[in-house]
Amino acid sequence: MKHVIISGCTRGIGAACVKKFLDAGYRVTGMGRSAKSDFESVNFNYVSGDLSSSADRQKLVESAIKKFGQIDILVNVAGVAPLERRDLLEMTEESYDRVMDINTKGTLFLTQAVAREMINNPEEKGIRGYICNISSLSAYTSSTSRGEYCISKAGVSMVTKLFADRLAEYGIPVNEVRPGIINTDMTSKVKEKYDNLIGGGLLPISRWGEPEDIADAVFALTTGALPYVTGQSLDVDGGFHMRRL
Ligand SMILES: NC(=O)c1ccc[n+]([C@@H]2O[C@H](COP(=O)([O-])OP(=O)(O)OC[C@H]3O[C@@H](n4cnc5c(N)ncnc54)[C@H](OP(=O)(O)O)[C@@H]3O)[C@@H](O)[C@H]2O)c1
Repeated sequence: MKHVIISGCTRGIGAACVKKFLDAGYRVTGMGRSAKSDFESVNFNYVSGDLSSSADRQKLVESAIKKFGQIDILVNVAGVAPLERRDLLEMTEESYDRVMDINTKGTLFLTQAVAREMINNPEEKGIRGYICNISSLSAYTSSTSRGEYCISKAGVSMVTKLFADRLAEYGIPVNEVRPGIINTDMTSKVKEKYDNLIGGGLLPISRWGEPEDIADAVFALTTGALPYVTGQSLDVDGGFHMRRL
């Protein structure tokens, strides 16, 4: 049985990823800040912790290996929006540090910690493991009321490229899914705004994305269907990324 680590597993996109992998017969170690997770399965191991904490990232990796052994897949989902949307001219250093510490630094150093283990995995058809990051359309789209989030996700896109480059020689493809507008707690505060934009024709596929849309893409990129793809970003966004006239 293959073993996958999923950060940010308690809600939204991360929870959909956990379900997808458990249903397909994988073992999952998941992390969130909540004390408990709703998943109950002999194949699921939950670690409560904060991705921005070095000690908690170490605890996650140690618990994963102790419980289920070799880590075959890493899915970096955990991420936060700013606590308060503020214009770029009013953005605070506290908010910048919080968002960058979780979204970018946390993702970078969890990837580093897991990669150090993965490179020692035995090779199977040239592959030692898969890594997939969840960035965002915000990696390339300006939203001046949450600049720190955009910067953090642009950073995640470079984390994808750097590790794709560094780990290719070990047989570890590293790719990224860029969600569009997905129906989760993160977007619930701005639901009306996005309802109106989608109703007004923002997206070629004119509906909200669901967490399962993202989990399906993550699964395809990390389970052997696409072993010659690395450093790639897959827009799962109903076509938002296209320029249209
Ligand atoms: N929803 C969208 O439209 C959208 C679009 C583009 C990209 N994304 C990205 O997709 C990812 C998931 O978003 P979502 O919409 O599913 O968000 P969500 O519903 O708010 O869930 C976020 C998840 O991340 C966990 N988390 C947050 N901060 C953490 C931390 N410091 N340490 C460990 N876990 C932490 C949360 O766990 P706890 O609840 O236990 O704290 C929760 O499981 C994020 O990286 C987000 O930026 C989302």
